[in-house]
Amino acid sequence: MTGMHVAIIMDGNGRWARQQGKPRWRGHLAGVDSVRDTVRGSPDLGITTLTLYAFSSDNWKRPAAEVGRLFWLLREYCRRERNELIENGVRVSHVGRRDRLPTKALTALDDLARQSAAGTRLHLRLAIDYSAQEMIASASRRLAEEVQAGTRRPDEVTRDALELALTDGVSPVDLLVRTAGEQRLSDFMLWETAYAELYFTPVLWPDFRRADLATALTAFQRRERRFGGLVAVNGSAAGAPAPKLAVG
Ligand code: IPE
Ligand code: IPE
Ligand code: MG
Repeated sequence: MTGMHVAIIMDGNGRWARQQGKPRWRGHLAGVDSVRDTVRGSPDLGITTLTLYAFSSDNWKRPAAEVGRLFWLLREYCRRERNELIENGVRVSHVGRRDRLPTKALTALDDLARQSAAGTRLHLRLAIDYSAQEMIASASRRLAEEVQAGTRRPDEVTRDALELALTDGVSPVDLLVRTAGEQRLSDFMLWETAYAELYFTPVLWPDFRRADLATALTAFQRRERRFGGLVAVNGSAAGAPAPKLAVG
């Protein structure tokens, strides 16, 4: 059975740095430790897919120096964590736009994706230059091109078809965590979170550890997921029975 899909909006690096009297990038640097610990702890918590929001398409609005540091950190992460990720059976992939990423960062991501491709314990998806709205638009564009080419009929542009084009078969998000107290999605996984449980914690991302993730999962397990029906369905959406019409 497919395990859980957890998605995390890793927020609060800047605030953490300010609290410590340090420049913002030190918060991003400290945040890498949180990524490592969260990834290490995930399989034992029953998570099989972990999507981390690392850089939004709107984060390009930040000063070039901060953006540069973030991509440098990404490269360092790919380089330093590679062996451990592979040993632990973690498969890494990228979600988001590729065309605007710095070449070195893209190469590091592609290399790590290729080298870790055999991992089966955890699928780690790094959302970088990611915009959920842009993802939906580009998946729609691909379907439109098939219609124009005559390989798909307009009535075959269905919810299922769009979902497949958008998610490439990755299961919907079961639990969405956002750190640092903000209660918004910031253009993250808008389609895939249709029935996700939302969990907001005041903990700043650089302070977040696997124990905090375990706390979020405990809260998740107490939630009653109904998917629009009347019967509570426990666990992940992927493991839920196919929706049936409740009659009588
Ligand atoms: C999250 O921390 C990291 C990224 C968005 C890249 P922030 O940098 O947004 O930290 P705050 O929100 O300013 O504290
Ligand atoms: C969302 O955080 C993006 C990431 C965590 C990568 P932001 O800090 O960019 O979001 P807003 O601006 O507070 O909505
Ligand atoms: Mg922020």
